Amino acid sequence: MTDARPILFFDSGVGGLSVLGPTRALLPRAPFIYVADSAGFPYGTKSEAEIAARVPALLGRLAERYRPRLIVIACNTASTIALAAVRSALDLGVVGTVPAIKPAAAISVTRAIGVLGTSATVRQPYVDDLTARFAGDCLVLRYGSAELVELAEAKLRGEATDPARYAAALQGLLGQPGGERIDTVVLACTHFPLVEAELTAAAQSLGGRAIRFVDGGAGIARRVAALTQGQEWPDDPGAGRAVFTRGGGDVDALAPALASYGLNRLEPF
Ligand code: DGL
Repeated sequence: MTDARPILFFDSGVGGLSVLGPTRALLPRAPFIYVADSAGFPYGTKSEAEIAARVPALLGRLAERYRPRLIVIACNTASTIALAAVRSALDLGVVGTVPAIKPAAAISVTRAIGVLGTSATVRQPYVDDLTARFAGDCLVLRYGSAELVELAEAKLRGEATDPARYAAALQGLLGQPGGERIDTVVLACTHFPLVEAELTAAAQSLGGRAIRFVDGGAGIARRVAALTQGQEWPDDPGAGRAVFTRGGGDVDALAPALASYGLNRLEPF
């Protein structure tokens, strides 16, 4: 007996690939379905009410259609706003992605950390709570950037992106009072690890700062592996599927990047 049920990854766009990547590496036989809510993109500029209404309902329909064994909400915005509601609405395991403030606080030498996420994420009480629990002795500065989300999408469409735009976004965080002390930055939006190399170069351009970037991808991959330990996998997981809630030109442009994550079948929802 093998079990062909997929693990379903969910994000507003391509950001969740930064979580899918390390999970695939740990679970090479797992079948994956990746859902980008392109019809709702971007999430980070939406209100709490919009996200809270949209995400649990959509995940309910997706769970019915694709019958996953586990759902990974590979999006900080959706997780910090709607994780509890999704969990109570669905009768299956749901793993969320929340800002990696705990590991960042564990490694910061200067005791000053930055949280770079979407505007919706950085204002969440969930972030206040993580900060109080795990970084009580740190200065924690936050900055919300819609620009970096757009840059990550553009990069994965194969477009050239302007280094000055990454520097401007990072400066929004580091330029705040006390920002000169920051040595560790939490990439609190799943799109941002996709542009970590560009952010590292931007930190260099802002006075040669050596900043460590931290994200939750590897930790979530380990959590997914632990939750599925002992489960059956198909002998051949087949091509990974990428599902978009709205089709269009962007989807074709993303095909090569999606294929590099094993997502070779593109489908509308
Ligand atoms: N990737 C998402 C996150 O982790 C949000 C991007 C967006 O749609 O604004 O927060």
